[in-house]
Amino acid sequence: MTADRPSGKFITFEGGEGTGKTTQIKLLAEGLRAQGHDVVTTREPGGAPGADSIRSLLVSGATDKWDPLSECLLLFAARREHLNKTIWPALAQGAWVLCDRFSDSTMAYQGYGHDVPRPFIQGLYDMVVGDFAPDLTLILDLDVKVGLDRANTRNAETASGEDRFERLDQAFHERLRQGFLEIAQSAPERCTIIDADNTPDIVGAAIWMAVEKRLDTQMASP
Ligand code: TYD
Repeated sequence: MTADRPSGKFITFEGGEGTGKTTQIKLLAEGLRAQGHDVVTTREPGGAPGADSIRSLLVSGATDKWDPLSECLLLFAARREHLNKTIWPALAQGAWVLCDRFSDSTMAYQGYGHDVPRPFIQGLYDMVVGDFAPDLTLILDLDVKVGLDRANTRNAETASGEDRFERLDQAFHERLRQGFLEIAQSAPERCTIIDADNTPDIVGAAIWMAVEKRLDTQMASP
């Protein structure tokens, strides 16, 4: 089953650690709501009760706690719950769904980062997600070291313990940055790269312009 989507839009935010996705989702949601849109913000892994249970298995503990292929299976199980319980129902009601990470993260982290064969991940996508895809994917791009410094500062402040992926070495994070850039190149009709090395306001304005242009929606500045 895939979504019946009359007028809702599905926008995903992707990128490495510390690229500012959370701040930008909040800003875009505020701007869209001010225009009168019904907006749902959500995140992966998570976004539905079963998916949140799977999230807690994934984001803490030793970096080698899961075999990367098992990690893919968990992520897609969580994704299926998220689609069925949250994303598709919201789109069917005409809401704009803004999602912090989606399947490109699996391709970048588990595929490019951990060397899980990419056709395997694509195969899972085809079975679990089907022919559904985001209307727009914003890939926030940032120097790896700058992003990891930001993420480590945030983790020290929040002490959430959700740093299992941040703790992987810099080479891993360089591979996944490259992965995101290649994903963007291979799907230019869906993806836009956003330079995240700027103040939140400037990044937010670039995102607003991209949404306006790509989704052909008339939106006054927020
Ligand atoms: P999150 O806590 O939302 O971190 P961030 O603030 O960096 O987005 O995401 C949890 C971690 O899960 C993040 O480090 C990336 C990882 N992840 C994957 O490895 N594969 C995936 O498919 C997804 C959705 C997330």
